[in-house]
Amino acid sequence: MVKMRIIETNEGIQDELTVESFDIFAREMRDKGWNGVSEMITSGIMGGDILELGPGPGYVGLELTKKISVTSLTGCEISPAMLSIAQKNASEYNFPAQYVLGSCMEMPFENESFDTVISNGSLHEWENPLEAFQEIHRVLRHGGRFCITDLRRDVNPLKKALVYYVTRPKEMRRGLLTSLNAAYTVSEIIELLRHSDLRNAIVTRNFFGLCIAGEK
Ligand SMILES: C[S@@+](CC[C@H](N)C(=O)[O-])C[C@H]1O[C@@H](n2cnc3c(N)ncnc32)[C@H](O)[C@@H]1O
Repeated sequence: MVKMRIIETNEGIQDELTVESFDIFAREMRDKGWNGVSEMITSGIMGGDILELGPGPGYVGLELTKKISVTSLTGCEISPAMLSIAQKNASEYNFPAQYVLGSCMEMPFENESFDTVISNGSLHEWENPLEAFQEIHRVLRHGGRFCITDLRRDVNPLKKALVYYVTRPKEMRRGLLTSLNAAYTVSEIIELLRHSDLRNAIVTRNFFGLCIAGEK
């Protein structure tokens, strides 16, 4: 039986030291190709004006700018400390990304502003994912695509142990476990989507997580 969800936080990662460790961790994930980028491309996202939800240090969207045709990249992030690290990383990538302080449950954007909405590793932190799904639908243009990747709570314990021991820096390991406990299962997400306007989304299971993809 799958354990009950244990909610993690509604404030994102705020503390500056933790943010610096998370930056190192996210860089490793990028270098290993474990940050959802290839799944996002496989899911059919086209680029154009991209909105990234919970970009953290920003590597997911920034990597996409190297692989698909991106007109603009905007990040919506709840943590001011993450915003400044993402801005610094965007200048390393030499891409004029814009990071905005805000919550994905109340996005500070006009209706139909984006061609693509993406997010990796953030969904399990959203206080009300249904509200976020509605917001994704609102800010997407018609025909626009979304792809949300995240951890999965019902991941096999062996895989969990494997990924735990390869997680670096070590101080990120505890956070990996709390994030896994807060993550959703595929069936929970399918049930949530049934109540949203993203009804046609396809939810798939992968090695360590899940992927929600579709078109408006
Ligand atoms: C585990 S990190 C993942 C960061 C990045 N997407 C990656 O894959 O490396 C989750 C991020 O989501 C942000 N976050 C959490 N809740 C949020 C919300 N309601 N709105 C926007 N960002 C949020 C956190 O501050 C944090 O930066």
